[in-house]
Amino acid sequence: MSIVELDVALGERRYPIWIGAGLLDEAELWRGAIRGRQVLIVSDEHVAPLYLERVRAGLKALTHEALVLGAGESSKSIESTNRIFDALAALGANRDATIIALGGGVIGDLAGFAAACWMRGVDFLQMPTTLLAMVDSSVGGKTGVNLAAGKNLVGAFHQPRAVVIDTATLATLPKREYAAGVAEIVKYGAIGDAEFFAWLESHADALNTRDAQALAHAIATSCRQKAGVVARDERERGERALLNFGHTFAHALEAESGYGALLHGEAVAIGMVLAARLSAALGRAPSADAARLSALLARFDLPTALPADADPDALLSRMRLDKKNLSGRLRLILWRGIGQAEIVPDVDADAIRAVLAPAI
Ligand SMILES: NC(=O)c1ccc[n+]([C@@H]2O[C@H](COP(=O)([O-])OP(=O)(O)OC[C@H]3O[C@@H](n4cnc5c(N)ncnc54)[C@H](O)[C@@H]3O)[C@@H](O)[C@H]2O)c1
Repeated sequence: MSIVELDVALGERRYPIWIGAGLLDEAELWRGAIRGRQVLIVSDEHVAPLYLERVRAGLKALTHEALVLGAGESSKSIESTNRIFDALAALGANRDATIIALGGGVIGDLAGFAAACWMRGVDFLQMPTTLLAMVDSSVGGKTGVNLAAGKNLVGAFHQPRAVVIDTATLATLPKREYAAGVAEIVKYGAIGDAEFFAWLESHADALNTRDAQALAHAIATSCRQKAGVVARDERERGERALLNFGHTFAHALEAESGYGALLHGEAVAIGMVLAARLSAALGRAPSADAARLSALLARFDLPTALPADADPDALLSRMRLDKKNLSGRLRLILWRGIGQAEIVPDVDADAIRAVLAPAI
């Protein structure tokens, strides 16, 4: 089996990302990342029946328990965090315990947050099973849960000990979830790698059929880019913000249309096209590049335009609340064209409203 190993270079907190088909069964590889003898696996009700036993089998003589939560964003809560704490207490977990997050971004963010808190921080391993989690949420150490007041309001930076990406688990991922992950892959080409963008254009069909080789390349290229950005700017003081290309629009759209109506990756697809069109309208980038981006996303059946009933003023008000804004100015991630994202600190509100207006 071919295994790709990447490194997230964070000094003494550095960790490997392993990518390969069938890695859940390769415990000889990942068990070494577990330092103590107690392990809690956190998973969800869709993923656990498919993959939990394989992880358990790999743990052999280690003391382990599993906590299986409901699937979906509602599990990313303080209540679920408490359930993890109760399970750790029942296991008698010490400071050398390890949590394994087996699932999508919801489980990874939640279990990582619990690991950051338990006894002021214990080890955790990411075993992502959605494409979005493989190329984005499992790498970089952002963990957290939602409150009634908003998404991701409580959290911590806590890097995993290792990320184990078994690409074979994607075989069971529903089509819409898969495409939502592809949107984040396209983002890496869009913001920093024109060559990868062109590769995606020529391999869209292979990715749509989940061709193993194409997937391995796309996941490894995405993780390599994210790992590099995280190593240079772990706490998002600069470059890491570029990963939010399209996300200010997307968050506004998700909040306006009601969470759950659009998958996050779908909202990001629309948001990236809006950011590209806004860049063109401001004379910062060629409009032909916006058209190329939109065409590529459409090949994955991703949406590329706002829903017909979207309200530009409501979206703009939401965008004004974004965490990235400073001193009341609208700060957005735009681009100079394919492969060249940039932070623009003070974007004119009327120009934003114009790209949010329905096409006539
Ligand atoms: N920490 C970060 O840097 C970061 C980055 C991006 C997104 N996120 C977070 O990630 C979350 C979204 O993650 P997600 O899109 O993976 O959603 P998710 O975890 O809800 O998974 C999506 C659905 O797929 C199911 N599933 C997962 N793996 C499967 C498999 N292999 N086969 C069949 N079904 C499977 C899940 O049970 C769920 O129903 C959001 O909460 C978002 O805030 C975090």
